Amino acid sequence: MSAPGARAAREAAPAVTPAPALAPGTRPVPGYEILGHLTRTRWLDVHDAWSEERDCRCVIKVLRPDRRGEAGLGERLLREGRWLREFSHPHLVRGYETFESPEPLVVLETLTGETLSHLVRRLRHRASAADVALLGVQLCSAVHYLHRRGLLHLDLKPSNVVVDRGYAKVLDLSVARPPGPAPAGVGTLRYLAPEQARGGPLTTAADVWGIGVTLFEVACGEPPFGRDDGTGAPDGRCCPQLERTAPPVASRRRLPPALAAAVDACLRPGPPARPALTDLSAALGSARPGARG
Ligand SMILES: Nc1ncnc2c1ncn2[C@@H]1O[C@H](COP(=O)(O)OP(=O)(O)OP(=O)(O)O)[C@@H](O)[C@H]1O
Ligand SMILES: [Mg+2]
Repeated sequence: MSAPGARAAREAAPAVTPAPALAPGTRPVPGYEILGHLTRTRWLDVHDAWSEERDCRCVIKVLRPDRRGEAGLGERLLREGRWLREFSHPHLVRGYETFESPEPLVVLETLTGETLSHLVRRLRHRASAADVALLGVQLCSAVHYLHRRGLLHLDLKPSNVVVDRGYAKVLDLSVARPPGPAPAGVGTLRYLAPEQARGGPLTTAADVWGIGVTLFEVACGEPPFGRDDGTGAPDGRCCPQLERTAPPVASRRRLPPALAAAVDACLRPGPPARPALTDLSAALGSARPGARG
C-alpha cells in the first residue's frame, strides 16, 4: 500500500533509517496502528499510521529512539501537538491527539501532496509568478493566524510547507515561541532571519523574513544565501545573512516588479524595515498577474 504524504515526508531526511523506531503493525497507543516509517529528522521519527476512530490514515510523530529521555525534547513534541490540536486554520496542519505515555507521541492529519522543497527539486520549470504570489498569500494567512494566537513560527522554509494542487499547509511548530528574547540560532541555519541568527528579541518580522526566504527559493530554485553545507554553527561565521544582504530576487529570476519588490522587502536585514503581514498579503495579492489594482 502506498502512503499518502510519503512523498511529502521522504525528502526531509537525507537517508531513511533502516531501523524504524516503530515497525508496521505496532500499536503504540490505543486506536492507532503503524503502517510504515516516513522519515527520520534530527530528533523525530515520522510514521504513516491508521486511526481506527476516524477510519483514515494519519501521521504519528515520536522521538527517535536514540534521543528519547533527552531533557525537554518530549515536552517540545507535546507542546507542538497541543498547539496543533487547538488551532484550526485551513493553511495549518491539523493535530488530532497527543499522548504523554508510554512515550510522548503526536497524531496529525496526513497531508497529501509534496513539500515545497520536493517541488522545487522536481519541477523542470520554475513556479509561475501567479503561483508564487498565491503561495505567499496563503503563507501570510497561516502565519498571521499564529501571530494572533501569540506565537512566532520561526522555522518557515520549503520543507515545512506541503502543497497539494496549489493549496499550501504549514507544518512544524517545533521551535515556535512567543515574541521576545531568544537564543542565537533557533530555527534552520540558512533560513534564519539575521536577528534569529544573532539571538535577541524576536518579533513577527522574523516570520516575514521566513515567508520571503521561502518565496525566493520557490521562485528561483535556490535559497538567497545558498544551501547549508552542514558545517556551520549558529555563531555568525556560518551565517551569510549576517554578512551580506539578500540578492534582489530579480537578479535571479524575472518576475513582475510588484511581486519582486514584495519578496525583496521581506528580506531587508532590519526587522522594522520589513512589511507587516497585512501589507505583505495585500501586496502579494495585487501583484498576482491578472489581479486588479
Ligand atoms: N502531517 C504530515 N503529513 C505529511 N507529511 C508530514 C506531516 N508532518 C510531517 N511530515 C513530513 O515529515 C517531515 C518532518 O516533519 P517536521 O518538519 O514536523 O519535523 P522536524 O523534525 O521538526 O523537521 P526539521 O527540523 O527537519 O524541519 C516534513 O518535512 C514532512 O515531509
Ligand atoms: Mg520540519
